Amino acid sequence: MKIIVTGGAGFIGSALVRHLIDETTHTVLNLDKLTYAASLASLACVSHNPRYSFVHGSICDSALLERVVATFDPDGFINLAAETHVDRSIDGPVAFIDTNINGTFRLLQAAQAHVERLPTDRRARFRFLHVSTDEVYGSLGETGKFHEATPYDPRSPYSASKAASDHLVSAWGHTYGLPILITNCSNNYGPYQFPEKLIPLCIIKALAGEELPIYGRGENIRDWLYVDDHVRALTTVFERGIPCQTYNIGGDAERRNIDVVRRICAVLDTLRPRDGGKHYADLISFVADRPGHDARYAIDASKIRAELGWSPEQSFDAGIEATVKWYLENEDWWEDILAQNYKGERLGLKRAHG
Ligand code: NAD
Ligand code: TYD
Repeated sequence: MKIIVTGGAGFIGSALVRHLIDETTHTVLNLDKLTYAASLASLACVSHNPRYSFVHGSICDSALLERVVATFDPDGFINLAAETHVDRSIDGPVAFIDTNINGTFRLLQAAQAHVERLPTDRRARFRFLHVSTDEVYGSLGETGKFHEATPYDPRSPYSASKAASDHLVSAWGHTYGLPILITNCSNNYGPYQFPEKLIPLCIIKALAGEELPIYGRGENIRDWLYVDDHVRALTTVFERGIPCQTYNIGGDAERRNIDVVRRICAVLDTLRPRDGGKHYADLISFVADRPGHDARYAIDASKIRAELGWSPEQSFDAGIEATVKWYLENEDWWEDILAQNYKGERLGLKRAHG
């Protein structure tokens, strides 16, 4: 199939593009605005493949979308283009509203206009997969998990914008018959993740001998999934999911933030011991909490496991070790980012200003 992947120069998008080019026969057009979070270096290994092409542009640009769709003539879309960092959404929600809500709306319009022009056989196979997050469901107490019927209760500007986009996608399925699919996934980690997110931030700060900032007491819980497991799930849902259905994706790997950071420190102690017998965990520092910090996320992924046969392959401990090794072996990738886009400063404490 010919697939337009949006946001393919980001963390999960680039892993998906590498997977689609290396492991399937699909042809991919990557449409990406190249925001601060993008890196074309993450796609170097596929950039010369004849089944891969790149267009620099925004999903908010309807005229561009029309041109790209007319030329590429896709059999489906996988939408990953988004502003994704909760802390940045606290500092400046405008880009989140523009891309996550208005951009998704523009993309739906472009997809719907295209589907209506397709012959019946291609229309029957067409899919619009919208990639979303478990954060739309809000915050859990000590027990329970998010399942597909959990009511939406987003709490941050980021999760509210993703929730809005999910509702738009669902509405286009129900009202216009667009063959949509929605996935809601837990926190991802792995190679090529932008170092504003907890795991790469702590690896890079630890290597620099800087304090590792833990918000609050570090007792907030996230359910971690290795990025390659997520992209296999996305490919499975795109190829075999039932239109107008939602699939939750998660790795059954709930961890308190403090335990995640201690695990990273333990792996670093083995792979790159500090001078003088010091331990990386000595760098852990408790800092002011994130405003509105969700306590706990956990995903019940039994539907995708039972109906589509997907399951995660990477355990949390093995995934963290592989991730730490990747950051040790790919300093050029993240040093470029530190030099140009982000120096590891604290984000998300300001009041919203635009
Ligand atoms: P990311 O921030 O690493 O990458 C986002 C990409 O989208 C970047 O390449 C950026 O340039 C591009 N982009 C932003 N605005 C755009 C626009 N207007 N038009 C075109 N491209 C644009 O994000 P990620 O972590 O790879 O997340 C990808 C998707 O998966 C997002 O929709 C996110 O909500 C969702 N998700 C992420 C996680 C996670 O843990 N990272 C978990 C569940 C779901
Ligand atoms: P993050 O990687 O920003 O993902 P999300 O907010 O989408 O879950 O944060 C993961 C968890 O780690 C979250 O509970 C906030 C916390 N955190 C810290 O304690 N320190 C940090 O420096 C960052 C970036 C996050």
